[in-house]
Amino acid sequence: MTLEEKIGQLCLLNGAGGHIPDHLRQEIAAGRVGAVLNEVDLGTVNELQRIAVEESPSGIPLLIGRDVIHGFHTVFPLPLGQAASWNPELIERCARIAAAEAAAAGVNWTFAPMVDIGRDPRWGRIAETLGEDPFLASALAVAMVRGFQGEDPSQPGRIAACAKHFAGYGASESGRDYNTTDIPEIELRNVHLPPFRAAVEAGVVSLMTSFSDLNGVPATANDFLLERVLREEWGFDGFVVSDWESVPQLAVHGLTADDRESALAAASAGLDMEMASTTFREHLAGLVEEGKISTGRIDAMAAHVLRAKLRLGLFEDPYSGTASWRPPADLDPAGAAREAALGSLVLLANRDRALPLAKPFLGSLAVIGPMADEPVEQLGTWIFDGDPARSVTPLRALREYLGPDVEVRYERALDTTRSRSDEGFPQAVEAARSSDVALLFLGEESILSGEAHSRADVRLPGIQERLISELSATGTPLILVVLAGRPLALESVVDEVAAILYAWHPGSMGGPAIVDVLFGEASPSGRLPVTFPRVTGQIPIYYAHKNTGKPPTPETVVHIDDIPRDAEQLSAGGSSFHLDAGYTPLWPFGHGLSYTEVSYSNLRTSRESVPPGVSLTVEVEVANVGDREGDEVVQLYVRDPVASVTRPVRELKGFRRVRLAPGESRTVSFELHPDDLAFHGRDMRPRTEPGRFHVWVGGSSAAQLRTEFEIGHPSED
Ligand code: NOJ
Repeated sequence: MTLEEKIGQLCLLNGAGGHIPDHLRQEIAAGRVGAVLNEVDLGTVNELQRIAVEESPSGIPLLIGRDVIHGFHTVFPLPLGQAASWNPELIERCARIAAAEAAAAGVNWTFAPMVDIGRDPRWGRIAETLGEDPFLASALAVAMVRGFQGEDPSQPGRIAACAKHFAGYGASESGRDYNTTDIPEIELRNVHLPPFRAAVEAGVVSLMTSFSDLNGVPATANDFLLERVLREEWGFDGFVVSDWESVPQLAVHGLTADDRESALAAASAGLDMEMASTTFREHLAGLVEEGKISTGRIDAMAAHVLRAKLRLGLFEDPYSGTASWRPPADLDPAGAAREAALGSLVLLANRDRALPLAKPFLGSLAVIGPMADEPVEQLGTWIFDGDPARSVTPLRALREYLGPDVEVRYERALDTTRSRSDEGFPQAVEAARSSDVALLFLGEESILSGEAHSRADVRLPGIQERLISELSATGTPLILVVLAGRPLALESVVDEVAAILYAWHPGSMGGPAIVDVLFGEASPSGRLPVTFPRVTGQIPIYYAHKNTGKPPTPETVVHIDDIPRDAEQLSAGGSSFHLDAGYTPLWPFGHGLSYTEVSYSNLRTSRESVPPGVSLTVEVEVANVGDREGDEVVQLYVRDPVASVTRPVRELKGFRRVRLAPGESRTVSFELHPDDLAFHGRDMRPRTEPGRFHVWVGGSSAAQLRTEFEIGHPSED
């Protein structure tokens, strides 16, 4: 290959959607393009491949990239909603179906999974994350990579995955998208990098850099991330793509003076492929000529890309292997979408067992709100290829479920969740007043989360809170179903409704899944993958925080209204909390109710003390003491209370989903290896320090049942 052809492999250009513009045709034929994104018409894709294979000098087929984020034609819940299922097997199945549907359109590379740690609900892209926790996000990232790629990404119906956005994007200041991140290396390694590492270990074909500036060096030109961590420490042999125009943006960040310097900075730092912009193509050859960049470096970049094409089997069959291939019927996209939506639903509150509703339901029902019957809005962000005709809305599913004999009165009340006109309120209030139960479908439309859609105030938008108050005044029990792309701060409405079911954006089959839970056809089993704040000002709030030197307790918290007029400086608690919000979240990470009640007992470890390098088993009895079957997500948390660097008050280290019949009790066991307790220390190396550890097992990060064990010193072997 000539230098120009190698550089061509590093160029990812946007497609035109269903046709091939002359410039693209010519550039592919000239070997100046290695990959195309956003082309999902199979005929067009195959023609692009034909040009690459038959007309370009080296005949190398193209990567065809697309954002297949949570489904393709069939849409599954948002990634954050899928994460609420805590169900890697289900998530893997969804990714497999998404891959199959996308592959049938000629796509061979998805820009997923997004594995950024999401701890800021203001950030619109929290919707795309797998939540706040490195352990959970790692497990689910692996499931997604497996689902997309399978054992062998060259198999029909499998596509290459791309773990993004490397790294730290989720820490964007104040949740403003694309913003600066300042993350100490120790936190980067302990919190933000683990899911990327897990994806790399699972064989992910590619990584995408973040738009953001990390500690003064934008991720797209960050050699610490791209060379030291990714290649040297993790041994990654796939390729790294920039985000959309993030190479020329290096100059906008202020790292470089112009496109030429940007190309040099990114290529020298370890980036392999440039998305959308063409600074590599325009400047790399000249930079090689000037001796600013070596031919060896260009060879390595091209080799990373070509290896991916080999892994995808494109040299054997460039035509996506799909001309006559269709997703196998047994994948059952609609069934999986319903199962995934069901798994994602989190019952946050359920006063006096307001849910499930009586079955058969003989009363009258008011259905209120702008999210009850919106086939597009329930799909969420990043659904370029989603087919709204496959959506079953909650209203439609309710009518189908209840049949013609139950009176369902539907009032939209608001045009959108953001509307400020209360014109529809009187009819909605009347509908609630004249019904036995009112189901409210509120939240946020798709456009309020996702890329570049951050919010400074994460309460229900518009005048939805007032709508709830007015409906609540009718005395009719209100069941609030929230469809939204982020955790919303619901403290001000929590006492006005009888139950809250959090549905995220549940995807194509959200309606039937919600109905299943409302009427007890299924017990809710989702658990929060992210902490829910009471109010926006508590953000960031996450369970794995540090203890501080002045941890709050219920006794030290003072409410702003209770501070006496003549209070002295230190009388207000002397600990770490907000006067107007306390220190607890509204709902903790891992929280989620079901229709049954589960008790935990007899937590024990196989040994009181283990020598270094030896595993121990943690066991607990989990009993269904309620009167219904239910799934419990048994969660194990640890704390290293004394360490050479301060450690979080709790960290998730294991979870198991168990289904329990009424009265059934089970022993659930976890194996813990000392490596599972490792963290990056002051020297940035992973270490497990000897000493005592606390371990909790329970149904959320607020679990109370605790025991301890010890990891011995090396000399005590
Ligand atoms: C920008 C987004 O940040 C990234 O996640 C996405 O994959 C690319 N655009 C391509 O659409």
